[in-house]
Amino acid sequence: MSEQSGKAMTIAVIGGTGKEGSGLALRWAHAGYDVMIGSREAERAAAKAAELNAVLGRDAVRGADNVTAAQAADVVVLSVPYQAHRPILESIKAAVQGKILVDVTVPLQPPDIRTVHIPPGQAAVLEAQALLGPDVRVVAAFQNISYTHLSHLDRPVDSDVLIASDDDEAKQEVAKLVEAIPGMRAIDGGPLVNAIAAEALTPVILYLNRRYKAAGVGIRFTGLDA
Ligand SMILES: NC(=O)c1ccc[n+]([C@@H]2O[C@H](COP(=O)([O-])OP(=O)(O)OC[C@H]3O[C@@H](n4cnc5c(N)ncnc54)[C@H](OP(=O)(O)O)[C@@H]3O)[C@@H](O)[C@H]2O)c1
Repeated sequence: MSEQSGKAMTIAVIGGTGKEGSGLALRWAHAGYDVMIGSREAERAAAKAAELNAVLGRDAVRGADNVTAAQAADVVVLSVPYQAHRPILESIKAAVQGKILVDVTVPLQPPDIRTVHIPPGQAAVLEAQALLGPDVRVVAAFQNISYTHLSHLDRPVDSDVLIASDDDEAKQEVAKLVEAIPGMRAIDGGPLVNAIAAEALTPVILYLNRRYKAAGVGIRFTGLDA
């Protein structure tokens, strides 16, 4: 069981009914974290939680509406389409004050999701920090992890995860969440502004998947002794 301040840490995954969020929720529940899935509809979250619990073989995941999940959590993970990013952030703004918010969102611009799109605030995660204010420790991570690797609990995820934030302690907390998933290596990618690069890499990865007929290209940094 993972601990924070002497008690079990609860992770809420907002958008946890989706492909990426449900995969991360499954992996963290498997690692022993208390996990809540958030949805715009509590019933949809409960149904996804039941599905994940069936895979896990125990009741380790709960479902709730997004605000209830964010209120209940120590760490809030946001994994929604960019088009929903601002309205969802506005809806959970009060609930995440004083907490770590991990933003997985990539500012893709359908239908051309294989071309880099820089949003008005330069990065979705910079827009999140500006909207939520300084009392929320926003961290960028997991933008380059394909959901296809998350659902098979018996397979390690062979990838590095760039973590960017202006808060060093928050980066360390998120590094623990990264390394709770077998195969993933946490890499300190610097300040939050560096997440522009991590977000921009995802459309390139989506391009590589198609170009090289790959299911889920990932990243590894070489030359690091850490
Ligand atoms: N899929 C990947 O492999 C992957 C990899 C890295 C990063 N990402 C990024 O992670 C985020 C989530 O990706 P995903 O593939 O998991 O997305 P998804 O399955 O399409 O959606 C995730 C969840 O977002 C919620 N949502 C809230 N507002 C929405 C709206 N207006 N339209 C649609 N859904 C809405 C939905 O939950 P409710 O309906 O239950 O509220 C949905 O289940 C995206 O920003 C994506 O770019 C994805």
